[in-house]
Amino acid sequence: LLYGPPGTGKTLLAKAVAHNAKATFIRMSGSELVHKYIGEGAQLVRELFALARDRAPSIVFIDEIDAIGTTRTNDGTSGSAEVQRTLMQLLAEMDGFDNRGDVRIMAATNRVDMLDAALLRPGRFDRIIEIPVPDIVAREEIIRIHTRKMTLSPDVNFAEISLLTEGLTGAQIQAVCREAGMFAVRKSAFEVTNQDMLDAINKVAGEEHDTEERMFR
Ligand SMILES: Nc1ncnc2c1ncn2[C@@H]1O[C@H](COP(=O)(O)OP(=O)(O)O)[C@@H](O)[C@H]1O
Ligand SMILES: [Mg+2]
Repeated sequence: LLYGPPGTGKTLLAKAVAHNAKATFIRMSGSELVHKYIGEGAQLVRELFALARDRAPSIVFIDEIDAIGTTRTNDGTSGSAEVQRTLMQLLAEMDGFDNRGDVRIMAATNRVDMLDAALLRPGRFDRIIEIPVPDIVAREEIIRIHTRKMTLSPDVNFAEISLLTEGLTGAQIQAVCREAGMFAVRKSAFEVTNQDMLDAINKVAGEEHDTEERMFR
């Protein structure tokens, strides 16, 4: 089970596993089990695992598992009887496998704090891995990855950019690199400068701030 804030690369990591593992990879998002198939979530879970057994060795990845695995809420939405049934079916399927067997289960969530305790019980997921917001070393690597295909001015200071992107997620750092590229394009420049990167950080970090303000208003 991978958990951490949105945009830290959990889905990306699962895709990397899919790419590297010599196994059938079956991906489903928790919300697909709820919205698209209302009334048949449990049935879909059964079919998902039947397919996984059939195509073994296989990996079942349930992204955003909180959509079905959230503790009962008062508003009656995520805690509805239908969602509960879907979760019960998932737990039953998970218990049906040997940990070292041919069907492995991966899942990801932004809201581990909200997850139903039954999912976190020993024996369900044998590794519960935090994917945190990147530290300075990781941020520098992420910046290098997302600027790899850009023409950078020699003045681009990776150490400075890594320092100033503190608190940003991988997805936000990717947005910074993309915005910096856009600034350069708008000026019809041939390269992305350090100033473009700084302007992009302000823009992306500013948007973040706006969103927070809107949320608390
Ligand atoms: N650690 C990382 N390294 C490189 N790119 C990242 C990283 N984390 C996020 N990204 C970028 O942000 C995008 C969205 O991340 P995603 O995997 O959807 O995050 P999550 O599933 O944790 O919300 C990725 O496709 C990738 O381009
Ligand atoms: Mg994701």
